[in-house]
Amino acid sequence: MIGIFDSGYGGLTILEKIRTVLPEYDYIYLGDNARTPYGTRSFDIVYHYTLQCVEKLFDLGCHLVILACNTASAKALRTIQQRDLPRIDASRRVLGVIRPTVEALGMLTRTRHVGLLATPGTVQSESYPIEIRKLFPDITVSAEACPMWVPLIENNEHLSAGADFFVEKNIRQLFGQDKNIDTIILGCTHYPLLLPKIKKFVPKDIKLVAQGEIVAQSLADYLLRHPEIEQTCSRNGQCTFLTTESEEKFGATARIFLQKNIQVRHIHLQ
Ligand code: DGL
Repeated sequence: MIGIFDSGYGGLTILEKIRTVLPEYDYIYLGDNARTPYGTRSFDIVYHYTLQCVEKLFDLGCHLVILACNTASAKALRTIQQRDLPRIDASRRVLGVIRPTVEALGMLTRTRHVGLLATPGTVQSESYPIEIRKLFPDITVSAEACPMWVPLIENNEHLSAGADFFVEKNIRQLFGQDKNIDTIILGCTHYPLLLPKIKKFVPKDIKLVAQGEIVAQSLADYLLRHPEIEQTCSRNGQCTFLTTESEEKFGATARIFLQKNIQVRHIHLQ
């Protein structure tokens, strides 16, 4: 099975796109809902929580795990790849969502001025500017942390009139940093749910980059280039949902993301 990990629900937006592009594989989705949000937590805590979840997915039989969470990709991915994988099992793979998103940017921006909307954790990590500088040194990045957006979505308030205040405020602040931005990365897997509101406050000619399709295409490409990993992935088109919170709570909020009821199982990490 392919493991899909997120701090909570946001990874469901990535999982959906991955299953559209690669429906034949089996997936385990793990949401660490008991400890969400990760976006406001320290570097060390996000790393330890993420590692624990990745090890759980390995124990459950995943050879390949996608960190479908920008905060975990920003704060934990590199250390897990470089320090933990060789110790745990060098044949397993953990991939994130930041690199594929950055790779897609080069073709999208014309002004070479890009905006990033993300959690405080992702913004503070500077992972996006660092990755962008490596691939496209000519691109200027301005980042705006949006601490209220994830709670708005998880409380099902993202389409309410109240959400306008926070969405408008953060977008205004982003353009206040740089008026030449022509492309905005939605650098949090929750944010596609806010797209109707974001579009209300962003000029029409600005490109909005949601990550689901980019990550799905990048995974399809990865599996083609790595037959040794592809061969470890079973193919029954099934998806198992696991949460560290209660099954009822996960199921109710997951409905906001998936517009359908799902079967969920609670797991203990310790
Ligand atoms: N889904 C997470 C991300 O992409 C944000 C949610 C959280 O703060 O835990 O960064």
